[in-house]
Amino acid sequence: MPDRDWWSVLWPDPALVMRQIGVEPGMIVLDLCCGDGYFTAALAKRVAGRVFALDLDAGLIEQAKAEVAGVGATVRQWICADARDMGAVLPEPVDYVLLANTFHGVPDQASLARAVRSVTKPGGSFGLLNWHRQPREQTVVLGQPRGPKTEMRMAPDQVSTVVEPAGFRTSKIVELPPFHYGIVLEAID
Ligand SMILES: C[S@@+](CC[C@H](N)C(=O)[O-])C[C@H]1O[C@@H](n2cnc3c(N)ncnc32)[C@H](O)[C@@H]1O
Repeated sequence: MPDRDWWSVLWPDPALVMRQIGVEPGMIVLDLCCGDGYFTAALAKRVAGRVFALDLDAGLIEQAKAEVAGVGATVRQWICADARDMGAVLPEPVDYVLLANTFHGVPDQASLARAVRSVTKPGGSFGLLNWHRQPREQTVVLGQPRGPKTEMRMAPDQVSTVVEPAGFRTSKIVELPPFHYGIVLEAID
C-alpha cells in the first residue's frame, strides 16, 4: 500500500471519484483488492453499506475496517481471499466491481477480467482506477516520484484490449488529475 501521507494528497476527494466513475446509490459493489480501505470508505458511504470488500492481506482488511468505521459507514461482508477466487467466495453477483491501483500488477490480467465478469450482473460495470502511462519520474507527489514502475503502467486502450474479450464493452473514460484515469466497462452478454 502507498503511504497515506502522499496518497491522500493525490486523492483528496475519494467520494467525488466514486461519483465520477459511475458508482450509484442502490448498487451492490465489490471493492476488489480493497487494501487499507481508502476507497472502500467512500464506496460504503455512496451505496449505504452494500459493499463487499476483498483483499488477500488480513492486516490491510483490519485497517480497512477501521477506515470504514471512521466515516460511520458499514460493509456487507469483508472477504480475505485471493482475487482469483472471487467467483467462489462472493455470495451474490454485483452491479459494480471497483479495482483501484492494482490492475497494472496483475500477472494474468485476462483471467482476472473473466473472473470479474463472472461476478458482475449483465449490464453491470467494471471500473478501474489506473496511473496514466507516463514516466514515473514525472509523477511527483510531495517531492518524490510515486506510483508503479513506468513499464508497468497501462494506457486506457491497453486495458480495453485485455478486458473486453472477457465480456465487457468500454463505456467511459474519465480523467482523474493529476496522474490517474478511470475506465468503466459495461458487462455484456
Ligand atoms: C496498491 S494496493 C491498492 C489498494 C486499494 N485498491 C487502493 O487503491 O487504495 C493493491 C492491493 O491488492 C492486494 N492484492 C494483491 N494481490 C492480491 C490477490 N491475489 N488477491 C487479492 N488482493 C490482492 C494487496 O494486498 C493490496 O491491498
